[in-house]
Amino acid sequence: MNDSEPDRRTIAFAASSVPESYESHLAPVVFGPWAEVLIDAVGVRLGQEVLDVASGTGVVARLAAARAGTAGRVVASDVSGAMLAHAATVPSPAGAAPIEYLEASVTELPLDDGSFDVVLCQQGMPFFTNRPAAAAEMLRVLRPGGTLGLSVWAAGRPLEPFDHYIAALAQAGVEPPFAGAFDSETFKMAEGNVRMVLEGAGLASVDVRTIEHEVVWPDAESATLGILGTPFAPLLGQLPPERRDALEAQLRRRFSPPAPGGAVRRTTAAVVARATAPGG
Ligand SMILES: C[S@@+](CC[C@H](N)C(=O)[O-])C[C@H]1O[C@@H](n2cnc3c(N)ncnc32)[C@H](O)[C@@H]1O
Repeated sequence: MNDSEPDRRTIAFAASSVPESYESHLAPVVFGPWAEVLIDAVGVRLGQEVLDVASGTGVVARLAAARAGTAGRVVASDVSGAMLAHAATVPSPAGAAPIEYLEASVTELPLDDGSFDVVLCQQGMPFFTNRPAAAAEMLRVLRPGGTLGLSVWAAGRPLEPFDHYIAALAQAGVEPPFAGAFDSETFKMAEGNVRMVLEGAGLASVDVRTIEHEVVWPDAESATLGILGTPFAPLLGQLPPERRDALEAQLRRRFSPPAPGGAVRRTTAAVVARATAPGG
């Protein structure tokens, strides 16, 4: 990639069709439950100021706002204006901190040094081209003694449901929309890699662990529809109807539950890290 070329992995969520499907089909089953895991691991207390980086449709930001309460403050930042615009339409729970939406890259946050108690980043790292610069910028905006919480899919483990979307697209002869898009390892990190990036940026007391979580769709159809919330959705729209139908039929087969019409249960695994800004 040269400087004049947009980073297509980072802008993968720019399409306006993606956010609504992300929020309807992926957030309730995958990203919402994982947000609880991340925030439980990190801890967000009443009155705290929280930044959610790569916030997407705001799944983590809304949960953090509920934990921070009306005396708290939450900023939801993302490079995709489309994701943030949808986030702003989703109501926050009663008694939650107000949420401000900020369109910005993680490596250039227009925010003051040392202005947050907690910085959160769920599944943003796989899309950042410069991970060390992202970690350094997240540390810059943390107060001394503040907490960073980060999660990323675990290297070497199956990536449900995305492995199935990738396999079906590749089988249908679709071209990857950005480099490595059909290599699911590029969306994951190993524990040691996460530790290295965070310690390399200057974070202290880095705790890194792999956590498993079962995700459950009510049926194969809703698991199949999750593909519309991924950066692969615009590719489906470009397929002739019969090829798209065949791809969706293949996904329904891949997700077919043991009992016809039953729930689809899959195990996901993520590396969850908690680290502290030095000083304080
Ligand atoms: C898989 S989504 C995760 C969204 C949200 N954190 C969640 O858990 O639902 C990845 C998000 O990273 C954002 N993103 C990618 N590159 C970014 C960058 N350089 N700076 C900020 N956000 C970025 C995308 O726009 C997308 O919303």
